Amino acid sequence: MLARTMADRLISGALSKPDAALEMTLRPSLFSEFAGQIKVRERIEIAVQAARQRKEPLDHILLNGPPGLGKTTLAHIIAKAMNAGLKCTSGPTIEKAGDLAGLLTNLEEGDVLFIDEIHRLQKTIEEYLYPAMEDFKLDIIIDQGPNARSVRLNLPRFTLIGATTRSGLLTAPLLTRFAVRERLDYYSAEQLQTIVLRSARLLSIDTDPDGATEIARRSRGTPRIANNLLRRVRDYAQVKGDGRITSAIADKALAMLEIDENGLDEMDKRILESIIVKFGGGPVGVSSLAVAVGEEPDTLEEVYEPYLIMEGYLKRTPQGRVATELSYRKLGLKSPGAQPALF
Ligand SMILES: Nc1ncnc2c1ncn2[C@@H]1O[C@H](COP(=O)(O)OP(=O)(O)O)[C@@H](O)[C@H]1O
Ligand SMILES: [Mg+2]
Repeated sequence: MLARTMADRLISGALSKPDAALEMTLRPSLFSEFAGQIKVRERIEIAVQAARQRKEPLDHILLNGPPGLGKTTLAHIIAKAMNAGLKCTSGPTIEKAGDLAGLLTNLEEGDVLFIDEIHRLQKTIEEYLYPAMEDFKLDIIIDQGPNARSVRLNLPRFTLIGATTRSGLLTAPLLTRFAVRERLDYYSAEQLQTIVLRSARLLSIDTDPDGATEIARRSRGTPRIANNLLRRVRDYAQVKGDGRITSAIADKALAMLEIDENGLDEMDKRILESIIVKFGGGPVGVSSLAVAVGEEPDTLEEVYEPYLIMEGYLKRTPQGRVATELSYRKLGLKSPGAQPALF
C-alpha cells in the first residue's frame, strides 16, 4: 500500500539502496539550488556568511518541521557552505553516553555534527550535550564504584545541527542552547513545480510544465513526496503513454495511486472517515484514532496530521481531534453543523 510505505519511509528515513542513491542525486547541495523556505534560507545564509567572515564556527542550529521538507538537505548545504566537515547521526542510534562522547571527541575544529530526530535522544544522554554545546566541554565519568571520578575534556569548537519533527518534545535546556531555531513549512505548489522540473531534468524525464504542476499540486507540500510521485508517474507514462509526462498522464497516474486532486491519499481519507463515522466527528484522542486506522500514533502526529490541519480538514483541540466542515464535504457527508435545507 502506497500510503503505508510512503509514511514508513518518511518517518524512518529508512530508504532502500536505490532510493537512497536517488535522494543523493536529487538533493540540492547549494543554497541557490534550495527552492522555497525563503526567509529561513536567508537567515541561515546570513549566519553562515557572518561566521565565515569572523572565521568562527557557526552557532548551533535547530531545524524543525514535518518529514521530507529539507532538514537533512539544509544540514548538508550548511556544512558545505561553511567548508566544514560533517558527521551525521541520529537520536535513537546514540544509545549510551559513551557513543556521544566518541562522536564529540572525534570532531575537528569547526566540524558540523548533525543529529537527526534529536527529540528521540535519551534524556540522560542529552545532559552531556549541554556543556558540550555551551562551553565545548565534556564531563565524563571514568572508573566505577569508589574510584569513579568525573573528568572534564576540552572539545573542538563545533556546530551542532539538530533536526526534529517534534520540537515540542525537546526539553527547554536543550532548546535554549540552539541560537538559531528555524521551522520549515510546507511548500507552495509553485515551489514544488520548480523542484519537480529540476528533478525531471536531473533524471532526464520528459515533463510538460503542466504535468509538473499536476504532480506538485498533489504532493502534500512536500519535496520528498513530489520526487517520489515524479518517479511513479514516469513509470506510468512509460508503460501507458509515450514516456512524456503531460498533465493528463499525471492525472491518470495519480488517480491510479489513489491520490486525489487535493493530494490526500488513502490513509488521509481513512483518518477523516474514522473521526466522522466512528467517533461522531470528534473530539477523539490520537491513540484511539491510531487504533481505528491501524497506524502508529507518532506517525499520525508527525506525518499525517500537520498537513490535514494546515489544509483545514482537522482541528486539534485540548479534548482531541475534530473533523471540520471541509472534511465532511470532502467525503460527501452531511455535517451536523450544516444549515438544514429550507425545502
Ligand atoms: N528546498 C528544496 N529544494 C529542492 N529539493 C528539496 C528541497 N527540500 C527537500 N528537497 C528534496 O526532498 C528530499 C527530502 O529532503 P530531506 O532533506 O531528506 O528532508 P527531511 O530531512 O526534512 O526529512 C531531498 O532528497 C531533496 O531531493
Ligand atoms: Mg532527514
